[in-house]
Amino acid sequence: MIDPYSKITTIDMWSDPYISKQMLKHHLSFDNYIASRRYQTIKKTVEFIHSYIAPRQRLCDFGCGPGLYTNVLQQKGHRVYGVDISTTSLDYAKSHNKHVTYKQLNYITDTLNQPLDVAMMIWCDFGAMAPEARSQFLRNLHQTLVPGGLFFFDVFSEKRFQTLEESYTSKEEIDGFFMEGPVSIESRMVLYPELGLSLSYDKAVGQKIIELFNWDKHYTIEELEILLHDYNFELVDYFSDTTGQTDFTDNELYFVVAKRI
Ligand SMILES: C[S@@+](CC[C@H](N)C(=O)[O-])C[C@H]1O[C@@H](n2cnc3c(N)ncnc32)[C@H](O)[C@@H]1O
Repeated sequence: MIDPYSKITTIDMWSDPYISKQMLKHHLSFDNYIASRRYQTIKKTVEFIHSYIAPRQRLCDFGCGPGLYTNVLQQKGHRVYGVDISTTSLDYAKSHNKHVTYKQLNYITDTLNQPLDVAMMIWCDFGAMAPEARSQFLRNLHQTLVPGGLFFFDVFSEKRFQTLEESYTSKEEIDGFFMEGPVSIESRMVLYPELGLSLSYDKAVGQKIIELFNWDKHYTIEELEILLHDYNFELVDYFSDTTGQTDFTDNELYFVVAKRI
């Protein structure tokens, strides 16, 4: 059994030159959920956020990837910033909208020196941070958002956790997701029920060895309320998906609106 959060490889995954190119393909293919949501969902999410907030807001998308949300929000009249660690994604984003300010930063260790009315973080990246990183991010965000500023983010729900099972698979690939050439891949799903935490682990062995540890914390609304309160945010609203639906029968995620106090 691997200790929770004993190894973190999030930055390695998003900044590896080869893997980040595969990720960009996934972002832009819209036929799977690996890096971004499908086009129609992204469109509805942008409409929902735009309808929820005041006009002409100073807004930043943390982990903006290739700018699928930022570029449209800018066209709707907001003053938009996009922060990401991946050069590959930011190059794509910049080439599609020169009016968004894109910054290559690590949103855990770096601060955006720009007061914001609205922040967002989409595709469950909030729950993918280790607890110390999440604390650091919330502290930074509290400094950056103006009082009353809103933070939109999605997290996996406790209901999704109930549907997961531990597993082990192996396969061979050529020029696949991890690296060029032939690669053997072992993948495991490990569950930590007392923490609502899952680990998706991959080991790829080819011309080099790559190990990826993807941790996903699944939340209840009560846990989120307490966590946000600890960092001087108030949970003001939540939805069953990023487009603003409220059917909580078997929602895989919560889309949360938190207010900076
Ligand atoms: C799952 S993708 C989501 C991208 C975008 N929000 C979307 O839904 O299309 C996560 C993004 O966060 C970025 N990222 C991950 N950790 C980061 C960090 N510590 N600082 C800045 N960007 C980070 C990755 O490079 C990637 O573009």
